[in-house]
Amino acid sequence: MATSDGYSSRDLVYIHDDGFNSYALDAAPSILKALREHGIHNGLVVDLGSGTGRWVGELVNVGYECRGIDQSPEMVRYAKQVAPKVMFSVASIFESPLPKCRAVTSMGECLNYRFGDVRTSKAALKKLFQRVFEALEPGGVFVFDIATPARAPKANPRVHRRDGKDWAIVSVTTKIPGGLRRSMVFFRRYGEMYRRGTETHDLSLYPVADVLALLRQCGFRSRRLPAKGYFQEIPGMAWFLAEKR
Ligand SMILES: C[S@@+](CC[C@H](N)C(=O)[O-])C[C@H]1O[C@@H](n2cnc3c(N)ncnc32)[C@H](O)[C@@H]1O
Repeated sequence: MATSDGYSSRDLVYIHDDGFNSYALDAAPSILKALREHGIHNGLVVDLGSGTGRWVGELVNVGYECRGIDQSPEMVRYAKQVAPKVMFSVASIFESPLPKCRAVTSMGECLNYRFGDVRTSKAALKKLFQRVFEALEPGGVFVFDIATPARAPKANPRVHRRDGKDWAIVSVTTKIPGGLRRSMVFFRRYGEMYRRGTETHDLSLYPVADVLALLRQCGFRSRRLPAKGYFQEIPGMAWFLAEKR
């Protein structure tokens, strides 16, 4: 059973930031380079699924204005401390109005999660792409990643364990129709004790060709970006750059 929302645990948010923020931070120089190559050196950038705010924090430090949108109140609470100059809102990216902006970004499978009432599907993705297109100024770009069907384990569940100085997490990933399910149990140390939490996240997975077709239907000129040398190479993750010309 999928949770009705995700990252509702303060401990999971802490673990995400302490153990997994390198994904966003490693991607930051490549996305920044892409923005600059498109003549976007300042102005408003909207980040969809802004998480703990690491990427938008980098952006404001180099002169952009930023808005972060995330459905998790705990993520937003944390992000406000990481990036106090950024305006964040707690909302679904599939529903929240998007302001006029020069660029939209999204990283960390945010477009895949089946959180809340919104069932991610190709139709929902297309509506989101249309809204991003409308929000972007001419010449604006949309840079994002998405998890593809190759992200799901082929047969047996995939078990992943990780720990930090005061936390540990085990996730079990299984294939479900149209996507994957990640069941997590995590522990965070408080003094002598560990607090245990669980969350289950369901994700819809989209083939690269479908994503490119949807972007084209919405008016974007788009391409898949190479991962090697630019982003962390994670099996099944694909990066895209879509331009509003
Ligand atoms: C794996 S985290 C990535 C966070 C951040 N972008 C990063 O790279 O560190 C996924 C984030 O997407 C958010 N998210 C997922 N689905 C969402 C939705 N429909 N609307 C808003 N936020 C969403 C989650 O709350 C979470 O903060």
